Amino acid sequence: MFSNLKEQPADKILALMQLFKDDPRPQKIDLGVGVYKNAEGITPVMRAVKAAEKQLWETQETKSYVGLAGDPAFADAMISLVLGDMVARENVAAAATPGGTGACRQAFEMIRMANPDARVFVSNPTWPNHLSILSFMKMPVVEYRYFDSNTGGVDFDGMLADLAQAKPGDLVLLHGCCHNPTGANLNLIQWQMVVDSLLKTGATPMIDIAYQGFGDGLEDDAAATRLVASSVPECLIAASCSKNFGVYRERTGILMAVAQDSSLRGLTQGTLNYLNRQNYSFPPDHGARVVTMILQDPELRADWAAELEQVRLSMLGLREQLAGELQRLSGSDRFAFLAQHRGMFSRLGTTSEMVDRLREDHAIYMVGDSRLNIAGLNKDSVPVLAQAIIDCGI
Ligand code: LMR
Repeated sequence: MFSNLKEQPADKILALMQLFKDDPRPQKIDLGVGVYKNAEGITPVMRAVKAAEKQLWETQETKSYVGLAGDPAFADAMISLVLGDMVARENVAAAATPGGTGACRQAFEMIRMANPDARVFVSNPTWPNHLSILSFMKMPVVEYRYFDSNTGGVDFDGMLADLAQAKPGDLVLLHGCCHNPTGANLNLIQWQMVVDSLLKTGATPMIDIAYQGFGDGLEDDAAATRLVASSVPECLIAASCSKNFGVYRERTGILMAVAQDSSLRGLTQGTLNYLNRQNYSFPPDHGARVVTMILQDPELRADWAAELEQVRLSMLGLREQLAGELQRLSGSDRFAFLAQHRGMFSRLGTTSEMVDRLREDHAIYMVGDSRLNIAGLNKDSVPVLAQAIIDCGI
């Protein structure tokens, strides 16, 4: 039986993690997987997470099952973090999921149940795992233009032209902030135009928001999601706590189904509960409980927000240092986009051959599409990367 299985393609990002681990060169630099690292190269447990976990250890008296959608307090806290007061709570159905990936998977499952012919519009490029899951689920994918490698910005005219091809019953997948893998984002005027396009075509948006707090701050990073959720008849939101709470391995995420009134909430909530039951029964609780405790406790919340802000500012500083260094070495502004990008990633816009050269000749690891994780840098490695980019003739 097992011999009938076919070899599956390795996930590019995870394969790169292994390649980096196996590289014996001491000067190697990991700009691959999207994990935050401080200047010492460590992914720390955030202070508020440690404090909440300690409190939880002292007070938790059972680990019995919670509920198919997870703890309602987690949903309340996350809906408020992502949507603020832009959408009435009774209009939102929500279910905790194993990370943001779990939320994306459940969202696609829900859409496929609602419309087996749904096409999913995805940005070109998008997070490779979006494509991998959609292909695994055999859902048709339509790419819309997004990244302009000449400018390092968004090809917004191309994007709008492609989104105009969507129809009612299609899903349009958008990145709420800190676009992965490019780092190039829309401004709010452009987001309003995307909303107008969605209203015109009648397609349903789905927002993947995995980096809230990593771009322009917790509130600013949620602005586009709030605008969409409060403007269209229905939308889905897949939110991750992996990065902004640093709870990667706890698998903490949530799927929200938002409507403009509460008439379908029972139906959508029942569907989300059903989908959780079919795929893994109860979602993981530990990370969700810790996140809830942090968001509910003013002191823990303030400390978490302060630490997250430090993380954000350190990445911005590295972006500016890198853009400055490249300007100095190249004598041109062609890398200025690196300082304008937001979030953990930037796409350099070079060929996979150059990415291979950076790895082979300079021990610098980035994803094959030239996505680099800014948080993998520190003050000392920025000049090394900049020099390597110039030496490779990028
Ligand atoms: C990434 O894009 O590197 C992260 O989201 C990690 C992952 O699961 O791919």
